[in-house]
Amino acid sequence: MARHLITSAIPYINGIKHLGNLVGSQLPADLYARYQRGRGNEVLFLCATDEHGTPAELAAAKAGKPVAEYCAEMHAVQATIARGFRLSFDHFGRSSSPQNHALTQHFAGRLADAGLIREVSETQVYSPTDGRFLPDRYIEGTCPNCGFESARGDQCDNCTKQLDPVDLINPRSTISGATDLEQRETKHLYLCQSQMRQQLQDWIDSKADWPILTTSIAKKWLNDGDGLQDRGITRDLDWGIPVKRGDQDWPGMEGKVFYVWFDAPIEYIACGAEWAEAQGQDAQSWERWWRTDKGADNVTYTQFMGKDNVPFHTLSFPATILGSGEPWKLVDYIKSFNYLNYDGGQFSTSRGRGVFMDQALEILPADYWRWWLLSHAPESSDAEFTWENFQTSVNKDLADVLGNFVSRITKFCRSKFGEVVPEGGEIGAQETALIDALTTRLHAYQTFMDDMEVRKSAQELRAIWVLGNEYLQSAAPWVTIKEDPERAAMQTRLGLNLIRLYAVLSTPFIPDASAAMLAGLQTDDADWPEGDLGAWLSALPAGHAFTVPDVLFTKITDEQREDWQTRFAGIRT
Ligand code: MF3
Ligand code: ZN
Repeated sequence: MARHLITSAIPYINGIKHLGNLVGSQLPADLYARYQRGRGNEVLFLCATDEHGTPAELAAAKAGKPVAEYCAEMHAVQATIARGFRLSFDHFGRSSSPQNHALTQHFAGRLADAGLIREVSETQVYSPTDGRFLPDRYIEGTCPNCGFESARGDQCDNCTKQLDPVDLINPRSTISGATDLEQRETKHLYLCQSQMRQQLQDWIDSKADWPILTTSIAKKWLNDGDGLQDRGITRDLDWGIPVKRGDQDWPGMEGKVFYVWFDAPIEYIACGAEWAEAQGQDAQSWERWWRTDKGADNVTYTQFMGKDNVPFHTLSFPATILGSGEPWKLVDYIKSFNYLNYDGGQFSTSRGRGVFMDQALEILPADYWRWWLLSHAPESSDAEFTWENFQTSVNKDLADVLGNFVSRITKFCRSKFGEVVPEGGEIGAQETALIDALTTRLHAYQTFMDDMEVRKSAQELRAIWVLGNEYLQSAAPWVTIKEDPERAAMQTRLGLNLIRLYAVLSTPFIPDASAAMLAGLQTDDADWPEGDLGAWLSALPAGHAFTVPDVLFTKITDEQREDWQTRFAGIRT
């Protein structure tokens, strides 16, 4: 049994995420976790909320709440919505956890001991109007790299370049809008990433199998000259992890906290510790996933994220891990995604544009969204959500192909043989041909899923559903029954077993519909079809009782589509 550690980029705490965020990390990570569990492998799937830094402080201020209270509330909200989408995290942690405090301070101590942290006296932007320093998102201006006018102090959303607030052209405070900004001296810690260039280069070069999107971004920043500049890992903020060297105070750093991008990825590890605690288990149970000296050497670790997160995961976080000199598990594979656009523009959290996770679940169950998002995942390029495309996919793939198959065969059986699997005779040439075709497609499906080719996996799954429909159409048991009831019974028996196949194979994409199919078949035997598919497809024996499931998927009407189109055309307030 293989062991898979899987993490999704941890979403910022500042509000509910939109569908573009979902498809860029949490949802494909869930697809992969469910698939690996389905194949009988051992999985630890972790996600958390990213609670520090200026995004959290700004959102709490906007909500008029103390930051800690705001974060606790929003964590609960995001956890509920994640359950609504059936995201099957083994643990949904918090980067503000005591475990992450301790581990982040521990890493800082190790890096300092290794001579990889230096103290720098630097000028930072100070706003007399606001009476404070303005790090990261407290400041906006024009990107010196691409000219985008709303670049943030820490990163340009347009060209993904990591920035320093003092680089911005025409800077302004995002708190007050003040432009009378000064530069003042303050002391900060810098991580000497530049000393690790060769080590990082060698590590990235060893990852020949990584997706091009991941390695191209990594190499761009690695070779760009300033992509691997030493970076400040502390901030003049109130909310965050206090700067300490292990459990010792750090003279001169009183009142400062670590930079959110330093502690957030460390939460991947700390989340393992939170998971163990929640299970009532000791350190050993999570260290066997995270420490190569404690069993994690045979773990495959896969990370899922949007392309804007790639530099932090290919350079900064590995620098932290490698620099610690301790045997922490490094990522084995980074699956990254392009952006999903919304109806002719961008999804935007700050501007409230698009469909947000809570709104999506208010109008349709999770499976409808999961199917569309995954089958249109922005892998090789950016993708676009349109209501027309969504309606077409749901109606054709889910209702016409899969839903219709399940309903036709179960209803036919009920009317002719009752709600039990009929006996019938041996399968014939047509059935053998079907099983052969299914076997070929099943292998293709597995290969795509193993390779995290999300869209191709969806296409292959759909093709597997189509094979069933085509078989039913040509076998036509409703015709056969007139001359050859034995044969019609056999065809029906196979059809019912195909539903079980669809339930098992579709679980990673549409877990609720899959559960409904299995419930209808009154079986909880959901073991993956390994070995001879023909034998596997006779597991539901003659005489086995079932019930016709409720309609699996209802079609989206033109009226609904138009209604939603108007409702989500504007900006969410
Ligand atoms: N919160 C970040 C974002 O949404 C992702 C953080 S991922 C981790 O873009 F590496 F920090 F964990
Ligand atoms: Zn830019």
